[in-house]
Amino acid sequence: MKILVTGGAGFIGSNFVRHFLQNRPDDAVLNLDKLTYAGNLENLDSLRSVSRYDFLRGDVSDADFIRSVFEKPFDAVVHFAAETHVDRSIAGGREFIESNVLGTYALLDAARRARVQRFIHVSTDEVYGSLQPGETAHENSPLQPNSPYAASKASSDLVARSFWSTYRFPVITTRCSNNYGPCQFPEKLIPLMITRALRDEKLPVYGDGLNERDWIFVEDHCRAIETLLTSGRPGEVYNIGFGEPVANLEIVRALLRSLNKPESLVEFVADRPGHDRRYALDTRKIRAETEWKPAVGLAEGLARTVEWYLSHPGWVERVTSGEYLNYYDKFYTRRRATLAEI
Ligand code: NAD
Ligand code: DAU
Repeated sequence: MKILVTGGAGFIGSNFVRHFLQNRPDDAVLNLDKLTYAGNLENLDSLRSVSRYDFLRGDVSDADFIRSVFEKPFDAVVHFAAETHVDRSIAGGREFIESNVLGTYALLDAARRARVQRFIHVSTDEVYGSLQPGETAHENSPLQPNSPYAASKASSDLVARSFWSTYRFPVITTRCSNNYGPCQFPEKLIPLMITRALRDEKLPVYGDGLNERDWIFVEDHCRAIETLLTSGRPGEVYNIGFGEPVANLEIVRALLRSLNKPESLVEFVADRPGHDRRYALDTRKIRAETEWKPAVGLAEGLARTVEWYLSHPGWVERVTSGEYLNYYDKFYTRRRATLAEI
């Protein structure tokens, strides 16, 4: 199978590309990524000379460019590319609408015209909005996004839905909870807290720190997507989560303990505007219809994540200094992806 992965230089996308190629020796990936600040090709350094992998720099919202990409055949598309950080969307949401809504439309449209047989639209639990204690969102729960980021993802979910209803284009939408693990950009809670604690800097906890998220180890999310690529039902939405929402403060304290750093580093700061109190998912559908279930518990996942950041000081340093942004110019200037190679 030849698949087009968008956003494969980001956190989840790069973990997925590595996982997919490792587990499927006969398959090939073209990774298409704009390389925004969140795209880091160093995440895929180990694949640079692998013939079943190639990279193409480009913007999913550039419709003409995206149509040209589909002049080559693909069996499936896995669409990760998006602006993803809630705080950035609060500061300014235009790029979120452009990449997440218009980009998803351009990709769906080109893939449909090219008669692609499977399209995984990677979405998020944030589209359901903030939940009450004890409540879980199932796939048909109302979409009640609260940040411009969440609104852009909910909008793209509705566009994806329309491609199934209108054209019977075989799109599957996944809504996953908060991911953590190797290669996550240190603007998100867990890598931000690890990298700041290592430098003995204060750890900014929003509000009272009691907002809850259902943390899932990135490898479990990648396995779920791989499963749905082959076994998911076209036109369906699947929630993916670990199933145990935990308060932010508890996560931060666990990280401090494993880094052997004092709790005095915690600093309560002004809350995020419109901060969702709680996300929690009903994941019975994917568990009933497929073999998938999460394999990595929170304690093990956090330990593996801390260990990854401790053992990759060069990655952290290049991300912090901005040097990672030079990777493409260093290795890819004269290179064009040719699918003949994969
Ligand atoms: P990320 O921010 O780490 O990476 C996003 C990637 O998309 C980057 O490589 C970036 O360069 C690329 N990109 C952005 N705009 C683009 C555009 N217009 N054209 C092409 N490439 C573009 O994101 P992530 O955390 O890996 O999330 C990946 C996907 O999973 C997103 O769709 C996100 O909404 C979804 N998701 C994330 C989480 C999470 O906890 N991180 C949870 C559920 C769902
Ligand atoms: O739920 C899935 C979503 O998870 C994804 O769709 C998003 O792309 C991803 O960014 C993430 O969104 P969150 O807003 O939940 O993640 P973030 O890591 O930004 O924040 C997690 C929690 O920690 C949230 O309650 C806000 C809080 N927080 C975050 C930061 C960055 C802090 O208290 N301090 C911080 O400095």
